[in-house]
Amino acid sequence: MNKLYLWGIIIAAAMLGATYATLGYLKNGLNGDIINILAIAGAAALVIITIFVVIKYVRQMQVDQASGELADESWDNIGEYKNPLPFGWAIMFLGTMVWGIWYWTIGYPVNAFSQIGQYNKEVKTLNSAFEKKYANIKGDELVNMGESVYLVECVACHGLNADGNNEKDAADLNQRISEKSVKYVINHGSNNLKSAYPGGMPAGMASGADVDKLAKYVAGGLKGEKPAAWATCAGCHGDNGKGQPFVAPDIAGWNQKFIVNILDNGKKGAIGKMPVMDRLNPKQKEAVAAYVMSLSEGE
Ligand code: HEC
Ligand code: HEC
Repeated sequence: MNKLYLWGIIIAAAMLGATYATLGYLKNGLNGDIINILAIAGAAALVIITIFVVIKYVRQMQVDQASGELADESWDNIGEYKNPLPFGWAIMFLGTMVWGIWYWTIGYPVNAFSQIGQYNKEVKTLNSAFEKKYANIKGDELVNMGESVYLVECVACHGLNADGNNEKDAADLNQRISEKSVKYVINHGSNNLKSAYPGGMPAGMASGADVDKLAKYVAGGLKGEKPAAWATCAGCHGDNGKGQPFVAPDIAGWNQKFIVNILDNGKKGAIGKMPVMDRLNPKQKEAVAAYVMSLSEGE
C-alpha cells in the first residue's frame, strides 16, 4: 500500500477523534440525539472525503506525465507546454469579474442599507434623546439612575452590597481600594487606563516591609502618619494622593473621571478582570459613577 494512504487513514482517524472529543461527546455519548449523530456523521464524511481527494491529487502530481506540444522558448531548460486554457477556468475567471461588478454595484454597494447600520443609527437616536431628557438631572436623581444602571450592569459581579462578594468576584466599591489591591499594584504595576495615563505605573516602586505599610496607608484613605516610602509614590500621585493629569490617578478618593475611565478601559488586577463597559452612554456612566461614589460617602 502506498504510504500516503496509510497517512490518510491516520490523519482521518486523528481528526475524527479530535472532533469527537471537542464536541464533548466523549463525556455524554451521542445521547441518541439524531442531530448529534447526523453532525458527527457529516463531520466524518467531510474529513474522509477531504483527505482522500487530497491524496488523489498528490498521487497524480507524483506519477502524472505531462504531454503536449512544447513552446519554442526554454528558460534555463525549463520549457512550457502550449496547452489551451481549460474552458472551466476561463468561465470561472470571467464569472468572478461579473460577480465582482455585481457585488459592488447592485449586491452590496457601499453605504447601502444594513441591519447593523440601522441598529447603530437607532441606538444613536435613542441615546441623544436620552441625553436630552436627562441632561439636567443631578444629586439624588442622578444617584438613583446610577443605582438602576448598577442593578442591571454591575450587580452580577459586584453584588447587591457592592462588596464584590468579599472581593472574591470583583472590587469592593464601598471603599476606594483594598490593601490586597494596593499591594498587587505595587508588585505588578498597572497599565489599564492607557488613554488617561499612558505610561502606567511601573512595578516595584516599593519593596519589602514598605509594601505592607504603604498598602495600609493607601487603603486606609491616606490618614495618619505617612510611611517614609510614600515619598516615591507622591512623585506621581501627589503628596495628598489626589493624582495629576496624565501622570497618575487620584488614589485618595473616588472621582467621576476615574470611574468612567475604568468603565471605558476595563481593569485587570488582584481580584480578576473587569470587562470594558463602554456600551453605557455618557449619562449612564456619569450616573453609575455618582452611585459608586455615594456608597462610601460620609466615611
Ligand atoms: C511613575 C508614576 C507613578 C508612581 C511613582 C507611582 N504610581 Fe501608582 N499609579 C500610577 C499610574 C499611572 C496609575 C494608573 C495605572 C493604570 O492605568 O492602571 C497608578 C495606579 C495606582 C493604584 C491603583 C488605583 C486603582 O484604583 O486601581 C494604586 C493603589 C497606586 N497607584 C499606588 C501607588 C503607590 C503606593 C506608589 C508608591 C509605591 C505608587 N503608586 C507610585 C503612577 C505612579
Ligand atoms: C464581569 C464582572 C464585572 C462587571 C459586570 C463589572 N465589574 Fe467592576 N470590576 C470587576 C473586577 C473583577 C474588578 C477588580 C479588578 C481588579 O482586580 O483590580 C472590578 C473593578 C471595578 C472598579 C475599580 C475599583 C478600583 O479600586 O480601582 C470599579 C470602579 C468598578 N469595577 C465599577 C464597575 C461598575 C460601575 C460596573 C457596572 C457598570 C462594573 N464595575 C461591572 C468585575 C466586574
